[in-house]
Amino acid sequence: MQQENLGQSSSLWMATTAELNRSTLAEDARADVCIVGAGIAGITTAYLLAKQGKSVVVLDDGAVGGGQTQRTTAHLSNALDDRYLEIERLHGSEGAKLAAASHTAAIDRIESIIGDEQVACDFVRLDGYLFVPLGESPELLDRELAAAHRAGLSGVERLPRAPLVPFETGPCLRFPRQAQFDPLKYLTAVAGALQRAGGRIFTDTHAETIQGGKPARVKTASGRTVTAEAVVVATNSPVNDLLAMHTKQAAYMTYAIGAILPRGAVPTALYWDTLDPYHYVRIQPLSPEAGLAEPSGSEGQDVLIVGGEDHKTGQAEVQADPYARLESWTRLRFPMIREVKFRWSGQVLETIDGLAFIGRNPLDAPNVFIVTGDSGMGMTHGTIAGILLTDLILGRENPWAKLYDPSRKTLQALGRFLNENLNVAVQYGDWLTGGDVDSPAQIKPGAGAVIRRGLTKMAMYRDEQGALHEHSAVCPHLGGIVHWNDAEKTWDCPCHGSRFDRLGGILNGPANRGLSGVDIPTSNIV
Ligand code: FES
Repeated sequence: MQQENLGQSSSLWMATTAELNRSTLAEDARADVCIVGAGIAGITTAYLLAKQGKSVVVLDDGAVGGGQTQRTTAHLSNALDDRYLEIERLHGSEGAKLAAASHTAAIDRIESIIGDEQVACDFVRLDGYLFVPLGESPELLDRELAAAHRAGLSGVERLPRAPLVPFETGPCLRFPRQAQFDPLKYLTAVAGALQRAGGRIFTDTHAETIQGGKPARVKTASGRTVTAEAVVVATNSPVNDLLAMHTKQAAYMTYAIGAILPRGAVPTALYWDTLDPYHYVRIQPLSPEAGLAEPSGSEGQDVLIVGGEDHKTGQAEVQADPYARLESWTRLRFPMIREVKFRWSGQVLETIDGLAFIGRNPLDAPNVFIVTGDSGMGMTHGTIAGILLTDLILGRENPWAKLYDPSRKTLQALGRFLNENLNVAVQYGDWLTGGDVDSPAQIKPGAGAVIRRGLTKMAMYRDEQGALHEHSAVCPHLGGIVHWNDAEKTWDCPCHGSRFDRLGGILNGPANRGLSGVDIPTSNIV
């Protein structure tokens, strides 16, 4: 079982995958490349570099895959979330072709790694179906079909409906040769293969400072130093970048449910609608490790995974219950589902132009690389990062380098850039408002709230025993005011998506340290 991280919810994968052994960095180390972050991007990059003969050290402040990789729904797709029409508008026809080719290559690379390393992770090739919401014109599908063809995906076709009964989707696009897998089983197996190839992985090791140069140095919170020829920061949101990248992407929370259904009741495929935010659907065989008893005489069970209900991190609508909304959407279309057994959330970084940032970190030494901005396609973008960063570090040409360059300026995305940054500016208005409640006495056990204290604000959490834990509500990244996320029991910053645990510890960048203030629990203070 994977450890709880990034909140209290637990994904299907966390319930069914054994965790890789953990080991912290206890002494200074040296390597060709130091990689910070042991999610799919970091581990894939380390694995591919190790296969090319490079010595690598991977650091993560939690477990392997303990960040967003264990919270994905793991669609492996070249049907880009932002749609080819939009990618073509933003990046031109050549850019759209490269985007299609790179995501296709990422799925192929995952498949070849699985073959090379004999990984058992439920990988399967399947079709993906894109349909418009009920009552909407399918004209969008015709334009998307033409754009996908122009991008080189000649196998995409329009069909009268997706193969779902009784859910009548209406016209849809079929994307062939998509795939799905269990992301944690895959990642832990690749991490094991990396170790067999000589790579070293240190968990529970927080990278406090990252400095490029010759050599690059990564200093850990416990005072150890890794020196390397190059550093890759693969921490979902780069913790070594104060502002440049964070004006070009925005953090969103997304939600998923896993409902039990009789095996085979829904054809195994990927399904997406075109709503904004859209719904994404897949089917996963329920493995015995999940520990869920099957009804006697049943022929097995699947899990129907449905995701959606995205909103900006730290900006959830009051009273909105994303899980309840997902469940009602699902029950209407898939009446055969039984109990909803899994509910979890994850964080997605949406770039202003729909594609990840992978390459040299802008305004930094040339031997510091980043991967961020998964744009809802973290599994393929993370694998693209492994391929592309390996080439860049080895000094090889790569045709995707310009498309994914973190320094790129996409003029056609100016409107979205302005909107996202206006939204961030508005969040600083929290400094002028009152608190969530007037007094700590109003905070129930297991809950948190922001309270105004003079000119500043405090993040207060009352634990189940009634003790109050108090920290500054000011985000150490750039001074936003954090919000309480009751579903995950975390403090979330609405500006650039930093997240903190209930006791103020850092969970997700761009902040790289926890909320300040000494946490002295005070029993029964009111
Ligand atoms: Fe930037 Fe909080 S994440 S201010």
